[in-house]
Amino acid sequence: MDKELDWSHLSFGYIPTDYNVRCYYRDGKWGDIEVSQSETIDLHIAATCLHYGQEIFEGLKAFRGKDGKVRVFRLEENARRIIESAKGIMMAPVPVELFTEMVKKVVKLNERFVPPYGSGASLYIRPLEIGISAQVGVKPAKEYLFLILVSPVGPYFKEGFKPTNICIMREFDRVAPKGTGRWKVGGNYAASLEAGEKAHSLGYSAVLYLDPKEKKYLDECGPANFFAIKGGKYITPASESILPSITNKSLMQLARDMGIEVEARHIPIEELAEIDEAAACGTAAVASPVAEIDDLDTGVKYVISKDGNPGPVTTALYNRLRAIQLGEEPDVHGWNTIID
Ligand code: PLP
Ligand code: COI
Repeated sequence: MDKELDWSHLSFGYIPTDYNVRCYYRDGKWGDIEVSQSETIDLHIAATCLHYGQEIFEGLKAFRGKDGKVRVFRLEENARRIIESAKGIMMAPVPVELFTEMVKKVVKLNERFVPPYGSGASLYIRPLEIGISAQVGVKPAKEYLFLILVSPVGPYFKEGFKPTNICIMREFDRVAPKGTGRWKVGGNYAASLEAGEKAHSLGYSAVLYLDPKEKKYLDECGPANFFAIKGGKYITPASESILPSITNKSLMQLARDMGIEVEARHIPIEELAEIDEAAACGTAAVASPVAEIDDLDTGVKYVISKDGNPGPVTTALYNRLRAIQLGEEPDVHGWNTIID
């Protein structure tokens, strides 16, 4: 780095680092791991990723712990999920071992970009896979590139752990009922851009999507899952059109550890009138508390945080998750991979 980064004031964005790692799938097999200092890739103009959206990705984070060690959170879960995404849009799956080795390598190579303990920032790890062989017919590629880049990041929502307002709108769907929502496919995010920009222009931090079939139930919240606390229970939508969030899964486990009952089920919109706390959860969002949910079509406003502060259960879960990621509390579930 030419000059020291201002670790405590990073936003969620791209900052160039020293290296990325790459691996090509050709002739039916994955090749050797390549280390690159280039920020660009050379692509065939007929590559399937460019024409037919054969692109999937992941997002995970590395943290500098209290003890100075670097921990990657739930690496195997991300490795498993990208395999599901690959199968979902007929790409060559990256073996768990290769994914693991490449994540460890790219973090190690860029260790000086892992933000210091106490800064609140982390190193975001972005694996992605694209179809690269030249094809004009609509069919899966024969060759793939799997690449991992990293970037030091701060909070996804600029407010950090402060409640923000989100909105419900029925004008757009991000995914189809039996579509690609359960996988981390780039096209889902393209389909969310117009709704997201509209929400931002109206002062909302994200869109709370409804199930695309009936528009009766809650689905997920922009690039994050949604959970609420209702009468002391942790409730979160069960839906086949949402991404199975690893953060949500972790928070559900932490809730159970704290003696909180967990329900993953359909949540009708009207139930928002009965909840005590709500948050968007994900690797980037961590657990971002929700102040108010406005239904733009009906005009109903669900005020969740009456005093503008995060609720006690959301706060406790957030602190617990953070403490594990930062090595402040024992990693009883074996979620961290230490990079040495
Ligand atoms: N839902 C969507 C659409 C996402 O993009 C993400 C981010 O990865 C999540 C949920 C949260 O998933 P995770 O907690 O595994 O990061
Ligand atoms: C993540 O939380 O890792 C995400 O992928 C969200 C994002 C699309 C910025």
